[in-house]
Amino acid sequence: MAGEKILIADDEPHVRKLLERYLSHHGYVVGLAADGLEALELVRQQTPDLVITDVNMPNMNGLELARRLRTSHKTALIPILMLSAQKQETDVLAGYAQGADEYVGKPVELSILKAKIEILLRRAGQATAATGEARPGRVILFIHGKGGVGATTLAVNCAVAASSQSPERVGVLDLNLAFGNSDILLDVRDARPLAELARIQGEIDEATFDSFVSAHATGMRLVVANREPEAAELVSLGAVRLAIERLRRRCDYVFVDLPANFSEHTLIAVDNSTLACVLTTPRLASMKAARECMEILDKIGYQRQRVVLIANQVADQAERENLKTFFRQPPDALVDRWQQFEFAADAGTPLVLKFPGSEAATQVTTLARTLCEAADEISAESAAAS
Ligand SMILES: Nc1ncnc2c1ncn2[C@@H]1O[C@H](COP(=O)(O)OP(=O)(O)OP(=O)(O)O)[C@@H](O)[C@H]1O
Ligand SMILES: [Mg+2]
Repeated sequence: MAGEKILIADDEPHVRKLLERYLSHHGYVVGLAADGLEALELVRQQTPDLVITDVNMPNMNGLELARRLRTSHKTALIPILMLSAQKQETDVLAGYAQGADEYVGKPVELSILKAKIEILLRRAGQATAATGEARPGRVILFIHGKGGVGATTLAVNCAVAASSQSPERVGVLDLNLAFGNSDILLDVRDARPLAELARIQGEIDEATFDSFVSAHATGMRLVVANREPEAAELVSLGAVRLAIERLRRRCDYVFVDLPANFSEHTLIAVDNSTLACVLTTPRLASMKAARECMEILDKIGYQRQRVVLIANQVADQAERENLKTFFRQPPDALVDRWQQFEFAADAGTPLVLKFPGSEAATQVTTLARTLCEAADEISAESAAAS
């Protein structure tokens, strides 16, 4: 293949020169940095396809460079190859712990380095291609800026409503890092959280990923990010992307329950989504937060036609009017306040199953259908455009 951009960070000029000459000769476009700081600056200007970094460097070493690349949703998935004269077991493990995909000792046989680069690039290419494969699942996000508006309740209930025909083709991904509760609403016990992916070295094959997918009583799938708040930092951005990718390959629709923030984890879900539902209630604080969420989506270039503003827990006509006045137009969708949601939550049975045929269940089912149709349309449009 070649033509890919490789950034080399090494403080030794002769190493930079040697690698540059060899890799350019093989068709790669090479960028050079003398330390981690310079490398970060170059990555910001133009995202490379792969980073090769030395470990010991002035200003910012290779471990810190890898750590920083892994903590931003824009750079978290760039393959990193560490190349270092320090090759004790502890050095290699430290490199992997900071996010290196490959750790190679110096001096290195250049043809072996090239083979490793090709493997890393191929793997990254396969991951990207997987998201673009024929009719991949549509990813529907439930975003909110103020807690308690009903994101989890609607994500779970819409998923169950959408899964009535083929439950195993629908998934819920709970990306709450601290206090997720989709497993409680669905009464799914012992879901293996994505936080545990951090313990697994190397490739995550389909069978391994299977152990992170739980089944609801209906057969619908559930993946949870975390179950213990203190393990939140173990959930990497790569794990979030992997979960979305794998679920969309297995499911027609993936409903993603997000926490009330715009963290890097949320942003990586946004980057890999089809449709974003922004939730509000008729309360001022949540309407303000919803407007801010929509502004952020707009700022990062997420098209308005892919955003659905949902007002939840609406009690009466006066509240409908308030919503219309605040947003200068009626919300795109609306769910009334129904006490049955609380009863259903306490019973560990989603409302659409606990009270089928109720007006609340009808509202949710209609919402689920609207969201699935909108996501199908967007997905068809983007397939036609590419
Ligand atoms: N339409 C509704 N009518 C009545 N109660 C509702 C409705 N939607 C959600 N609720 C209730 O509101 C509470 C908060 O819901 P939920 O946990 O889904 O919110 P959330 O936005 O996910 O919160 P968090 O930001 O904490 O994750 C729950 O007790 C839920 O049962
Ligand atoms: Mg929630």
